[in-house]
Amino acid sequence: MVRPKQEFIGSSPAFLEVLEQTSQLALLNRSALVIGERGTGKELIAERLHFLSPRWDQAFIKMDCAALPESLLESELFGHEAGAFTGAQKMRRGRFEQADHGSLFLDELSNAPMTVQEKLLRVIEYGTFERIGGSRPVNVDVRVIAATNQDLPTLVEQGFFRADLLDRLAFDVITLPPLRARREDILQLADHFAVKMSSELGRDLFPGFSNSVEQQLLEYQWPGNIRELKNLIERAVYRMQDPEQPITDIQFDPFISPWRPAMHSATAAATDSTDAPAEWPIDLQAEAQAYEIKRIEQALAKAHYHQNEAAKLLGLSYHQFRGLLRKYDISPKRQSNS
Ligand SMILES: Nc1ncnc2c1ncn2[C@@H]1O[C@H](COP(=O)(O)OP(=O)(O)OP(=O)(O)O)[C@@H](O)[C@H]1O
Ligand SMILES: [Mg+2]
Repeated sequence: MVRPKQEFIGSSPAFLEVLEQTSQLALLNRSALVIGERGTGKELIAERLHFLSPRWDQAFIKMDCAALPESLLESELFGHEAGAFTGAQKMRRGRFEQADHGSLFLDELSNAPMTVQEKLLRVIEYGTFERIGGSRPVNVDVRVIAATNQDLPTLVEQGFFRADLLDRLAFDVITLPPLRARREDILQLADHFAVKMSSELGRDLFPGFSNSVEQQLLEYQWPGNIRELKNLIERAVYRMQDPEQPITDIQFDPFISPWRPAMHSATAAATDSTDAPAEWPIDLQAEAQAYEIKRIEQALAKAHYHQNEAAKLLGLSYHQFRGLLRKYDISPKRQSNS
C-alpha cells in the first residue's frame, strides 16, 4: 500500500483547520488549489489530498510547471505522437495519461504558459486532449491538484492567467498559513526536525534548546517558513559541539561570513546614495523603464535568447517576463543585421 511518507507536525488552530479542510476536500472528485508562501507545506498537502481520496491506490503524478520551457512542458503533460517533432521517434504518453484514474499534481502552476493553460482548461472540463502532433482525442480521468505561491486572481487581472481556468481549478482553495501565523507549532516542529536529525547522525538523544534559543525561534519571522526552519535546525544539530548539551546558539543566516562576496546587483546600485542625480527634477518613470529595458535585453543575450532562462535571470515568472516584452515591445529574438 502506498502512503504519504511524511508526518504532519503541528497543532495550532490555523494548521488544524487546514488539515480538516484537506480531509474533507480529499473525498470530492474535484480539482483543488493549494496556495501558500514558499516552504509552507503545499506539496505535503497535495499528497494528503491524493492519499485521503478514493483514488489513493492509483497513480499520484507530479509535474513542476516551472521546471521546463513551454514546448517541453506541453509535451511532458500531454505526450506526443511519433514524428510530432524532430527527435520524437516513438509515441510517448504524457503525465495526464500516466495519472489516469489517479491524481496529477501541477506544482508552480502560475508558471504554465497560455498554450498549456488552454489545454489544461479543456482536459479539466471534458477529460480530453490531443497528444502533440495528434488529432485523435485521448480521454482520461484525472483529478488535478494545483499549487502555487502566487496570487492567481492578481495574475488573472494582469492577463497572465486565464480566468476560466482559475474558475475550474478553484472549486475549493486551501490556503496554508505561514509559520509566523502559527507560532504554537514552531517549537514542536523544531523538536521534530532536531530529533530526526540526531538519529540520522547516530546520536541516541537530543538534549533540547536553551530558553534563549527557543525565544529566538519564536520571535523570528520565518520568511522561508517550514523549509527554512527545517534547514536551520538540522544545521544547528549537526554543528553541535557537545551533542549532550542543549543548543545555546543558533545561526539564522547561513550566508554570514567575512568572505561573503560583495554585492554587485541592481539593489546595490539603487541603494548607492552617492549616485544622486546631477539635476532635479528627474523623470523617474522614464528612467525606471529605460533601466528595465536594458536589463531585459541583457538577460536575453545572456540566456542566448531563451526566454524562460532570461526570466529566471531576472527573478521573474515566464508570464511576468512575457508581459514586460509586450509592454516595451521588445523582440525576444536575436537582432540580426542581414
Ligand atoms: N506540517 C509539517 N510537518 C512536518 N514537516 C513539514 C510540515 N509542513 C512542511 N513540512 C516540511 O517542510 C518542507 C517544505 O514543505 P513543502 O515542500 O511541502 O513546501 P512547499 O510549500 O511546497 O514549498 P515551495 O513553495 O518552496 O515549493 C518539506 O521538507 C516538508 O516535509
Ligand atoms: Mg513545493
